[in-house]
Amino acid sequence: MPHQHKVHVAIFASGSGSNAKALIEFSRKNEAAYEVIVIVSNKELAGVRTVSEQYGIPFEYVADSGNGPAMISLLQKYGVDIIALGGYMRLLPPELVKAYSSKIINIHPSLLPNYGGKGMYGMNVHMAVYKDKLPFTGITIHFVDEEYDRGLSLVQAKVDIADCTSPEAISAKVKTIEHLIYPMVLHEMCKRIYSQT
Ligand code: GRF
Repeated sequence: MPHQHKVHVAIFASGSGSNAKALIEFSRKNEAAYEVIVIVSNKELAGVRTVSEQYGIPFEYVADSGNGPAMISLLQKYGVDIIALGGYMRLLPPELVKAYSSKIINIHPSLLPNYGGKGMYGMNVHMAVYKDKLPFTGITIHFVDEEYDRGLSLVQAKVDIADCTSPEAISAKVKTIEHLIYPMVLHEMCKRIYSQT
């Protein structure tokens, strides 16, 4: 059944935006409980900007991403209910995390707490996993609190990488799984919010 009142989602991203794309694609299905209404980035020329243009979604470049009150009023202007981070390379200002408490989720390309924390982002994660010769890695979707990779975990999925012969191959395989699971988790979360209103 089509959802009439969709939850308003802002995607925060700094990179290529492949997760943003997957989230938007899913949102275009009738049954999706959410709608992506704005993409926020700390990088003016990030690849995700092209994604926003492709789908006709407003792109907001935020030069001073540490300014909590300004970020909050920007999101209020769009009526944002939920924030989904997808490769966002800045720490969120504490005021924002407080204002959107339990309404911010992130995706991390490992089974947290493994390969999380400072410096553990993007290819750094996959290079470390590759170096450790692990037969599997995974993804974690979690709530965001003041301490980045520390929020409560919502979903973890294991990814078999026994056949991967490079960090790039691991990254590609992990991203395929991210693109499948992230939209579903966001959808389920929004469905729940919805049934409470
Ligand atoms: C993803 O691997 C995600 O897990 C991490 O950053 C990467 C973003 O990639 N947080 P993309 O820009 O969505 O392709």
